[in-house]
Amino acid sequence: MKVINTMQVIKKVDELRATLGKYRKAGKRIGLVPTMGYFHEGHLSLIDAVLEKTDIVVVSLFVNPTQFGPSEDLENYPRDFERDERLARERGADIIFYPDVKEMYPEPFFTYVVTDQLSKVLCGKSRPVHFRGVTTIVAKLFNIVQPDVAVFGRKDAQQAIIIQRMVKDLNFPIEIIVAPIVREPDGLAMSSRNVYLSEKERKQAPVIHAALQKAFETVQNGETSAEKIKRLIRQKIESAGLARIDYIELIRERDLQPVDRIEPGTFVAVAVWFGKTRLIDNLAFFN
Ligand code: PAJ
Repeated sequence: MKVINTMQVIKKVDELRATLGKYRKAGKRIGLVPTMGYFHEGHLSLIDAVLEKTDIVVVSLFVNPTQFGPSEDLENYPRDFERDERLARERGADIIFYPDVKEMYPEPFFTYVVTDQLSKVLCGKSRPVHFRGVTTIVAKLFNIVQPDVAVFGRKDAQQAIIIQRMVKDLNFPIEIIVAPIVREPDGLAMSSRNVYLSEKERKQAPVIHAALQKAFETVQNGETSAEKIKRLIRQKIESAGLARIDYIELIRERDLQPVDRIEPGTFVAVAVWFGKTRLIDNLAFFN
């Protein structure tokens, strides 16, 4: 049984390394949950997933500037550290790593990790520097924490696939868990950005999941044409008057390339604007 209230907040890399070094020497397995904070049940479910596999759970909370484009929401990204700290502690985390920007990016900073190809498609098209920022900060966190296990949510399918690729390509000795998408009761995938939605937009946003669900059923009933499934999803989402589609893609898990025919390993990924808020979601057609 974990005793609550013992969670440590650590802001410095050296202090974190020293603390984890002691645990490692004592034979403890370390788990890492990378986040940008403003926790919801999706984030907290990731803590559960590593608690099962490790002795010490480190949650990192860092709104990473290098993964935001110049016109994106870095400044306005929602933050509430006190609430996050309480939620992580209650959920059983042992350490919150909460560095500031200077700690993670001391100047000058020149080195980036890029997972080529995979970072240029889907969300990478409309967010050209995004995945470079993600892989760089995650590689840094892996080197700082040296976890045995790290967990990422399937909500950000492309991110999870890119990180799995990076771990293989660069030989990080880390087991990556990909945890299922946690949804609101009406089907909307939980996201820190859902708070940006107006009341009207929030009411319409579950249409994304409804459209994916409809596509899933249609595929179960034998449809294999990617074009037809895309059209079906587009029509359903556009029936909600406020939605503006960024992309709907049917892609292969393996290399994130689009397919014409739906087959095992195909999943659908969508990005949809509601006003100023861009929401993403995805669904696999096969288990
Ligand atoms: P953030 O958006 O805070 O998400 C942190 C983790 O929570 C990610 O692995 C994400 O996929 C997962 N997550 C978010 N919503 C979820 C949901 N509804 N169900 C399940 N998991 C969910 O993703 C990032 O931060 C950053 O890019 C990061 C990896 C921390 C690098 O900066």
